[in-house]
Amino acid sequence: MADQIEPKSADNVAAPVAPVAADPPKAPPAAPAKKVTASATTPSGPDKTRRTIIWSLVWGYFGVNFLMFLRFFFPRTLFEPKTIFSIGYPQDFGLGVETKYQREFRIWVDKVPGRIFVIYARCTHLGCTPDWKPAENKFKCPCHGSGYDSEAINFEGPAPRPMDRCHVELDATGQIVVDTNRLYVRDPKAGRDEFDSPGSYLPA
Ligand code: FES
Repeated sequence: MADQIEPKSADNVAAPVAPVAADPPKAPPAAPAKKVTASATTPSGPDKTRRTIIWSLVWGYFGVNFLMFLRFFFPRTLFEPKTIFSIGYPQDFGLGVETKYQREFRIWVDKVPGRIFVIYARCTHLGCTPDWKPAENKFKCPCHGSGYDSEAINFEGPAPRPMDRCHVELDATGQIVVDTNRLYVRDPKAGRDEFDSPGSYLPA
């Protein structure tokens, strides 16, 4: 006889099994972080040399520009002496050659009986500044040996004519005003003699 199948009790009935959710796909394991080492950031070898050269050029460029900028504050100006100036009163000078204005104004003051005049201290050969030689009572040019007497009249060497004289006049106070831009010339070859012209001397 066939076994009767006993109805299963509630205890025996297995609870329905919930479907198991599938695990989400696992991400592949992350690659281990690379260590940032000093060797990765610091160039070496040719890279380092290249960087050094480039920075040198950049700094050189800025350096040159900075120097050029500074150069604007130091213009290449030639500071010429004044060309119009006072030298005092005629009675301040004794007879003979006064050299104290040579360095500052490139002139000598020359007083002779009856007149005072100012010589422009420039050799008429090639423009050197002669020296006054009191012991020899003459001007001597150190460049090529030209000699001038005490009134700056040439008498030896290659100088072709006497040294020029500056314009002189008295100001309102009676002081001598010299203008080295206005020169009086004696040049026998050119038939020119301005040494007695008004302004080339003052009575003294
Ligand atoms: S420049 Fe004076 S002698 Fe030549």
